[in-house]
Amino acid sequence: MKKSKLVLLFILFVLLQMNAQSIVPTYLNNTQSIESRIKDALSRMTLEEKVKLCTAQSKFSSHGVPRLGIPELWMSDGPHGVRMEILWDSWKHADWTNDSCTAFPALTCLAASWDPTMSHMYGKAIGEEARYRRKDVLLGPGVNIYRTPMNGRNFEYLGEDPYLASKMVIPYIHGVQENGVSACVKHYALNNQERWRGHIDVQISDRALNEIYLPAFKASVTEGKVWSIMGSYNKIRGQYACENELTLNEILKGEWKFDGCVITDWGGAHDTKELALNGLDIEMGTGTDGLTSNKKNAYDNYYLADPYLKMLRSGEIPISNIDDKASRILRLIFRTAMNVNKPYGSLASEDHHNVGRTVAEKGIVLLKNNAQLLPIIASKYKTIAVIGENATRKLTEGGGSSELKVKNEISPLQGLREKFGANKVLYCRGYSSETLSTEKRYGSSTNATILRKEAVDLALKSDIVIFVGGLNKNKQQDSEAGDRCSYSLPFEQNELIAELQKVNKNIVLVMLSGNAYEMPWLKKATTLVQAWYGGSEAGHAIANVLAGNVNPSGKLPFTFAAKLNDYGAHAFGAISYPGDSIKEEYKEDILVGYRWFDTKNIKPLFPFGFGLSYTIFEYGKMNTDKRVYSKEECIKMTFTVKNTGNVAGEEVVQIYASQPKASVLRPTKELKAFTKVALKAGETKIVELEVKVKDMAFYDEITKSWIVEPGVFVLYNAASSADLKSKVNIIVK
Ligand code: BGC
Repeated sequence: MKKSKLVLLFILFVLLQMNAQSIVPTYLNNTQSIESRIKDALSRMTLEEKVKLCTAQSKFSSHGVPRLGIPELWMSDGPHGVRMEILWDSWKHADWTNDSCTAFPALTCLAASWDPTMSHMYGKAIGEEARYRRKDVLLGPGVNIYRTPMNGRNFEYLGEDPYLASKMVIPYIHGVQENGVSACVKHYALNNQERWRGHIDVQISDRALNEIYLPAFKASVTEGKVWSIMGSYNKIRGQYACENELTLNEILKGEWKFDGCVITDWGGAHDTKELALNGLDIEMGTGTDGLTSNKKNAYDNYYLADPYLKMLRSGEIPISNIDDKASRILRLIFRTAMNVNKPYGSLASEDHHNVGRTVAEKGIVLLKNNAQLLPIIASKYKTIAVIGENATRKLTEGGGSSELKVKNEISPLQGLREKFGANKVLYCRGYSSETLSTEKRYGSSTNATILRKEAVDLALKSDIVIFVGGLNKNKQQDSEAGDRCSYSLPFEQNELIAELQKVNKNIVLVMLSGNAYEMPWLKKATTLVQAWYGGSEAGHAIANVLAGNVNPSGKLPFTFAAKLNDYGAHAFGAISYPGDSIKEEYKEDILVGYRWFDTKNIKPLFPFGFGLSYTIFEYGKMNTDKRVYSKEECIKMTFTVKNTGNVAGEEVVQIYASQPKASVLRPTKELKAFTKVALKAGETKIVELEVKVKDMAFYDEITKSWIVEPGVFVLYNAASSADLKSKVNIIVK
């Protein structure tokens, strides 16, 4: 072919390509920027179509724009696994057969790992499960601060410290969103109890709000770049959290420049105008019966559906208001449902079970090992008694919206039998959480006296006892929509443990819970392990730790107090917790968790940041790169950590800072940095950590800004909030 003909053919080809490109509208053209696609989509949409985007169309999905081929958004709970399918228009399970997931450990366990790489692994794996299940928005993680151990949902959150929660939530979000699935950080904000959660009006100082309760949300937005946030049910200073001018408009969308969507908690909407004007974007779960009870689709009656449309048409609400919401929702759709670059995901894979097991292992906290019973050397014992209902109970079920239907769940008993041999490990339930009506589930008596006697008899004739108890996911324990009724362990476990202690000296207590509890038996207990809710692989993780295949390295993400009134939230009477049913005053202010215990000199049972290992770590004296710093500088700290024992292990080293003299009250110390160091037996490593001077600021209520006051600051390297190894005084000028 002649050269000129070839050139002509080439030009023709290019023209055809250009034409093909030009007939793809911009909003569908994924080579265009998301912002130009949003602009184009908006220009093609009617007012009615824009409004439609703002509400649910089923229990867990919101509308798309069918005429333009813009898909719906599909959402699913929750923080530690992708929930089973729910019916279109009721809370009933849909009973699909292809929706069994991996249960990852509850978030307290993740926080107890103090390991952001675990968070990333966790987020990526759960995001893959969400993606495989065709979800666009995963309703989690939760970052409400642990204010009281009575809160039924603490197990879904990341502990009592804003710095720890912030560092752990960021990689979780990144991991989820790498899948083209939006994380939805919840519950924004101040949903720190379940009691009266639907209306309790939280009164709080600006300082406590900014220093304690908001940082993890702020980190989620500014560093995690989260695409959606869920409002909470409660009120904040007189206004519902989902319609709150201060927290949504001023702080989230103003100060933090959040460009994603605010989604209601399911039923958190109350008023069209407030929702519209105060920053809410998608209304989910408002209590209509949807398609079932009305002739007309009840979703049209949502506050942000027809009533909103009416106000827009009449000019009561400006059109710019819906354009902003529709832009945000389209942005979320382009980032997720219409993201053509997202991976396919996977469900309940071996890989995900490995992630779950690793996180569970890294989060288990060894609290006491005085008699060196752990690790268990099985050859020393002929019989091992496992006692306690939590050894066999399914703990991935229940708990409210975080309930899961799992493909596998390895119970502690199964894990221990696999590890130590089925013949050697004998089981007895010991106590019962069941009522007579539900006792069928276990096929044995629920009578406490009979169960206790059986357990004591077994303990008497066994060489070692592993007691597996704690809380479970029943209502009024670790569960949504209700708080605990007591700080004590339920089902007469304290009495049972005391009886067991009388007949056997070798007792290993393994507690599963997402909350702290009273320990009247602690003095007599030599061995105590806090193993949280470990998810699908809980049993393997527990067995690996007890047998010493894994050296425990978790540390507590919240304080275990001796008694309930030792917590700041409980030191000021009912108005501070649970409130007077209308309002609640956070009277302990910024002194939450160890900040309270330290400042008020109250000795807890186990302090924040505490956890033992099967080896011993020796800390060297800490040095800083210099002594005097300007406010813009960064303090560089170095010290050595040596593993002086015989086995490899990991140690979470912590840096706390304090300002002894300040113009405002400052907690005795606050966590400012941490890292997890892996050390072989005998190995020494130099730890290098940094703290920005500006991160030692307090929130000034008068100027409404963060202030670092010049003067002396003290930095500590520490193994826990109560185990300070050395200190350095520095000066900020
Ligand atoms: C819970 C949320 C959950 C939602 C959907 C609400 O009651 O507070 O955490 O995501 O239900 O199940």
